[in-house]
Formats: sequence, C-alpha cells, structure tokens
Amino acid sequence: MRLFFALWPDEGVRAQLAHWARELHAVCGGRPMRIENLHLTVAFLGNVEDARVAEVERAAGEVAPRAATLLLDQPGYWKHNRIAWAGASTVPTEVGALVGELRGALARSDIGFDSKGFVSHVTLLRDAREPRVMPALEPIRWNLDGFALVRSIPPPRGSRYEVMKAWRT
Ligand code: 2AM
Repeated sequence: MRLFFALWPDEGVRAQLAHWARELHAVCGGRPMRIENLHLTVAFLGNVEDARVAEVERAAGEVAPRAATLLLDQPGYWKHNRIAWAGASTVPTEVGALVGELRGALARSDIGFDSKGFVSHVTLLRDAREPRVMPALEPIRWNLDGFALVRSIPPPRGSRYEVMKAWRT
C-alpha cells in the first residue's frame, strides 16, 4: 500500500486551508485538492508491502510526538510541478526534530522513503498557473499534537487519504 507520514489538520485548520485554496484558485486556477485530503507530508514512503506495515508502525513508535504551533504564513507556487501551497516561513524546532527523528527511525529499520529535504508545505492546488501577485492571506495558526501514518487509496475508489494510525502527545 502507498503510505506517508503527515501532520493531519483538525477541522478548524482545514476550513482555513480551504479558504486559502479558494483565494489562490482565483489567481492560479488549477485543480483544488479535496478538502478532506489536505495535509503536510513529513516523510513519503511510497509502496510498502502489507507485511511490513507493522514494522513501519513500530519505527514510528520510537518517535516522541511533540506539541508545537506551526504558523502557516506563506502562500507559495512552484513552477516545476505547478503546485500552489500553504507554507511556513519558520519551521518550529519541534517539527524539525520530528522530521529528523522519524526519518532516522525509518532508516534504522531499513524502511525506504523519499529522502528529498523536508519543505513544510500543504499542497492546495495542482496544475495551477503562476500567479502574477500572491493574495494577502490571514496566517493560519496550527496547533500540532502529533503525527499520522496515512494511506493513499488510489482511483477508482479514491483518490483519497485515510489516517491509519496517529501518534499524539
Ligand atoms: P506534494 O503534495 O508536494 O506532491 C502524497 O502523495 C503526499 O506525499 C503529498 O503530500 C506529496 O507531496 C508527498 N510526497 C512527497 N514525496 C513524494 C514523492 N516522491 N511522490 C509522491 N508524493 C510525494
């Protein structure tokens, strides 16, 4: 199954992200992500055999979930993949530590993941145009209390994401 670890928003943060997505859509067009799918990826594993999922969960269990506040204060756009996103100009030390510890635990257990550097962003639109001007958007205060293992359910049943397990403070 296709798996990744993510910060998973609550309803309040989700609603604010949906507002950002609408404002960005007005200037970028593109394909909005389903609201219920919005998340921030901390480690992307890709396809994992069913038999190894327990190992993935055990590795994640070595990581201490931390409380932190992530301020999403930066709308952004990447030309190379035509994504418009919500980002944080400052990554709290607790989030940096979570990413480092989680990736370390996965590596020690020989669980593969995309080792590209962590860039905190929530994808809001795909196939979007570069905006001439970014809209001014009210920052989103996201109180974090842990992280989640998420499964991607492919079409035709999806595409949707399902939280398989969460580790909370
Ligand atoms: P993206 O939104 O920037 O594309 C599920 O695909 C999640 O994993 C998305 O948040 C996606 O980020 C992220 N991701 C990170 N590395 C990925 C990779 N190599 N392939 C697909 N998705 C990846």
